[in-house]
Amino acid sequence: MSAHPSTWSLAEMPDQAGRTVVVTGPTSGLGEATALELARRGAHVVLAARNPEKIATTTAHIEREVPGARVGSLVVDLSSLASVHAAAAEAARLGPIDVLVNNAGVMATPARRTDDDLDLQMATNHFGPFLLTGLLLPQLAASGDGRVVTVSSFLHRIARSAPTRDPRRVPGGRYHRWQVYGQSKLANLLFTFELQRRATAAGLPVRALAAHPGYASTHLLSYGQTGRSQGGLASILNGVAAATAQSAADGALPTLMAATADLPGGTFCGPGSFQQMRGLPRVVGSNALSRDETAQRELWEVSEATAGLTWP
Ligand SMILES: NC(=O)c1ccc[n+]([C@@H]2O[C@H](COP(=O)([O-])OP(=O)(O)OC[C@H]3O[C@@H](n4cnc5c(N)ncnc54)[C@H](OP(=O)(O)O)[C@@H]3O)[C@@H](O)[C@H]2O)c1
Repeated sequence: MSAHPSTWSLAEMPDQAGRTVVVTGPTSGLGEATALELARRGAHVVLAARNPEKIATTTAHIEREVPGARVGSLVVDLSSLASVHAAAAEAARLGPIDVLVNNAGVMATPARRTDDDLDLQMATNHFGPFLLTGLLLPQLAASGDGRVVTVSSFLHRIARSAPTRDPRRVPGGRYHRWQVYGQSKLANLLFTFELQRRATAAGLPVRALAAHPGYASTHLLSYGQTGRSQGGLASILNGVAAATAQSAADGALPTLMAATADLPGGTFCGPGSFQQMRGLPRVVGSNALSRDETAQRELWEVSEATAGLTWP
């Protein structure tokens, strides 16, 4: 494993035949682009999503683009701990898993508590993926060289503090939806770095990496602001993203780099141009708070207590 010296392109992706990759949030945007490219390279791609109809649509799309593609499915609502448990039990049939891509997410949604009494953004973007990764860890280790790639954001930098308080205590005052989003994306990095440290200490053959897409044209903004992916204001917001951002295919490149390039655990990949907003991916840095080992450990402990799973 070596630190990648420069930018990376799709042409460098090794053959993925014989590898099983689980991608969350593959029904839209970056996840769909990620799953498609992995399928093109021969991976057995497992589409992990909450809506079976959307899984069927994405499967048909990938099979049209890549005749003979091996596409599987896993139904999971990441905002529900019970759903994650059910999905992980179902995933036992997959056998060893080479890569888990924690891509699914929501951005700046209005204040909402989930059935587990968690904030919707933190549940979807962090606690669900935390539990899913922990439950799939034995299968990732069984591959002999498992990888966990978690999709963070440049906006991890807007978080003023790490989300290490008891998440079941609802803070008083106004709900700052962008601040909570930033904290959830900071959590993705704190989780990645702590997982890497714990996997190394436990001698597990699993690497944890993170990626961010810069600014990519997807349904993230429209869904967060309107609760819909298309129609009315959602379509206007999608149009704004399409006019100002790089494509979802380009935004998926850092994830694909993190998932397949020869990189050490703890690496963060992001776009290489225009202040990390677009361009071919490379290894990038993250802010000081994401590297704070106390915050990493505290978030891990809070996450274990919240998800009800102590691991690795
Ligand atoms: N686009 C950007 O510029 C940007 C920038 C920085 C970071 N990111 C990150 O990139 C990741 C992917 O976002 P995107 O931009 O591709 O947005 P997107 O087009 O809205 O896709 C989000 C995906 O997450 C899924 N999802 C949402 N809630 C879920 C839940 N409770 N359970 C399971 N799946 C759920 C969605 O499923 P449905 O189809 O069922 O809604 C969809 O497949 C996110 O983690 C986001 O934070 C994106």
